[in-house]
Amino acid sequence: MLGVIGDPIAHSFSPAMHNAAIDALGIDFCYVAFHVHPDRIGEAVRGLRGFNILGLNVTIPHKLAVMEHVDQISEEALAVGAVNTIHNEDGNLTGHNTDVYGVTTAIERVAGVTTFPECCVVLGAGGASRAVTYALGRREEVKRVTILNRTVARAEALATDMEKITGKEIIPAALDKTSEKRAFDEAGLIVNTTSLGMHPNPDNSPLISGDAIRPDLILYDTVFNPLETTLMRHFKARGAPAYGGLDMLVFQGARSFELWTGIEPPTDVMKQAVVGRFS
Ligand code: ATR
Repeated sequence: MLGVIGDPIAHSFSPAMHNAAIDALGIDFCYVAFHVHPDRIGEAVRGLRGFNILGLNVTIPHKLAVMEHVDQISEEALAVGAVNTIHNEDGNLTGHNTDVYGVTTAIERVAGVTTFPECCVVLGAGGASRAVTYALGRREEVKRVTILNRTVARAEALATDMEKITGKEIIPAALDKTSEKRAFDEAGLIVNTTSLGMHPNPDNSPLISGDAIRPDLILYDTVFNPLETTLMRHFKARGAPAYGGLDMLVFQGARSFELWTGIEPPTDVMKQAVVGRFS
């Protein structure tokens, strides 16, 4: 038994994605969605041992709260400060974070970026930004990451944390026209981690002016619903390559699946299962 916990959880694409991989592999597993209230998080995680559930994905709002209920936490999950995967090995629970692998692999394989640019920009300073800023800062080639956020204090706190953890130069700035131009001008890769443009407000975008978008500036938008965001369309209109968050979702799921089962799942099948939910 595998599953995902969240509140709410009915919208989750994970059951469709993982059960498609299970079916394609013909293995005896089942992946279900559990609606867990924040007050019950400790009982839910302890329940893994009782029910002998092999693995769980953890989504909003539980990624932080589960940390005190597992037996150990991986280095990545500790650095990011969030657990999105729990692996139950004979009652011993390990918390992992596969979002770091998910975003790195999506940028490498789908956007075709094997050598990351020296300067990167992260839009947003929330939970998703922590995973992305860590993923970028950990790359040897990356020298500087600028975090642009509406609330500058949040960008500053995250930058201080990530500078300590990654040893790279992490610069916090406001999400305004001047900072956008300055940061975009020196960057080769922009990653959006804000929720702007996400369903049910697909017309929103974190872009202020977009004047500094060049055809060689790559956008990775972690938003996957809709599959093509307004931000992606702005980049494409200026001849720049833009990729959506679907592949990050698939690769983080694939990594969790591999941690639990030891089997590398078919990511094309997983991706199709999610795309199928949109049509
Ligand atoms: P997550 O854990 O998914 O990253 P979050 O912690 O709520 O979610 O972070 C959402 C991000 O989107 C934040 O960077 C937030 O900016 P603030 O820190 O200023 O709140 C950003 N965001 C959300 N709505 C926004 C808006 N209308 N304008 C600008 N930024 C917005």
